[in-house]
Amino acid sequence: MTQLPGLLDTEAIRKDFPILDRQVHDGKKLVYLDNAATSQKPRQVLDALSEYYERYNANVHRGVHVLAEEATALYEGARDKVASFINAPSRDEVIFTKNASESLNLVANMLGWADEPYRVDSETEIVITEMEHHSNIVPWQLLSQRTGAKLKWFGLTDDGRLDLSNIDEIITEKTKIVSFVLVSNILGTVNPVEAIVRRAQEVGALVCIDASQAAPHMPLDVQALQADFVAFTGHKMCGPTGIGVLWGRQELLEDLPPFLGGGEMIETVSMHSSTYAPAPHKFEAGTPPIAQAVGLGAAIDYLNAIGMDKILAHEHAITEYAVKRLTEVPDLRIIGPATAEDRGAAISFTLGDIHPHDVGQVLDEQGIAVRVGHHCARPVCLRYGIPATTRASFYLYSTPAEIDALVDGLEHVRNFFG
Ligand code: ALA
Repeated sequence: MTQLPGLLDTEAIRKDFPILDRQVHDGKKLVYLDNAATSQKPRQVLDALSEYYERYNANVHRGVHVLAEEATALYEGARDKVASFINAPSRDEVIFTKNASESLNLVANMLGWADEPYRVDSETEIVITEMEHHSNIVPWQLLSQRTGAKLKWFGLTDDGRLDLSNIDEIITEKTKIVSFVLVSNILGTVNPVEAIVRRAQEVGALVCIDASQAAPHMPLDVQALQADFVAFTGHKMCGPTGIGVLWGRQELLEDLPPFLGGGEMIETVSMHSSTYAPAPHKFEAGTPPIAQAVGLGAAIDYLNAIGMDKILAHEHAITEYAVKRLTEVPDLRIIGPATAEDRGAAISFTLGDIHPHDVGQVLDEQGIAVRVGHHCARPVCLRYGIPATTRASFYLYSTPAEIDALVDGLEHVRNFFG
């Protein structure tokens, strides 16, 4: 068995993930390499979810009865866990949403309805990058269409990194917000946050970071990032679906208007007007995803017990091995950085002129789960002149043997298509 320095004890870890024992297609061992789409869930998270429903289920912040108080304590306890996981200065800066897309839409709408000095209008500019997930493109397009603000973006270099050569022309005195991905879901690139934040701060622009592919894989410190908003989602980090996070700086959350109105986000309501509760509740209208937040809290406990720095080291070793092995496959072109440096644990590639959907299907027949398509980042495919990619993405339970299985599987794909 291949041993690499820095690997976690995957034999022990995999015992926590019942689904990883599954067999598919008549007894083929499941090789799950679609972690950038969603991670699998450990028993500890599954247990926390069923325990919540079996013992504590009630609506939060509303009741005077025991269950309501316990459910509220669990929900707010999950907020504490998130705050400490991302080193937030205050728990009140953590807003629960349903996913990262909602978090990013929330930022765009806060700014869209804001007064000066935050207001986005036809005199102002919004900056994103060409490697964004659609969830960090479309909300800004909508805002730009509604307000007349100009949407600008950083392009990409041939090796899948941001082209910052014209940073001073892209981010200008007119820029109100710069919103960019920390780790690309399609290219795997880890972006140079510091350079972008420094320029944004020079011109007084706000910074929003999409950390969906970072929070599951590396220590995340919102204070060190020096951003104004950070968005991520629970289901990619061992948590359930239906729970996302938006972290925002407290004074911004105090100043900016709510987006969704409804129960629990108010202070008082009359038939003429309303006043709002302080953040984070101002941004959490209606019954929140309570069980999902509790599940995310359990996922954070699980990841912390292993250690985010150890998870990062494990994935770096796996990714380095995967880059090396994939580079040996004839006709395989990595779309994105062709090294393991400054890249996350998702690798996109093409294989000769075999369509990625065919690659994915033949791999699936061998029990190997990858994602194919444009990965909700279609502008990246357009930039590199390809219709789609095949993407293998790893997590804390991925093993070198699974990389070997992928490489053997690709050999089979090549033989199959002659
Ligand atoms: N954003 C997820 C992915 O990259 C769904 O697959």
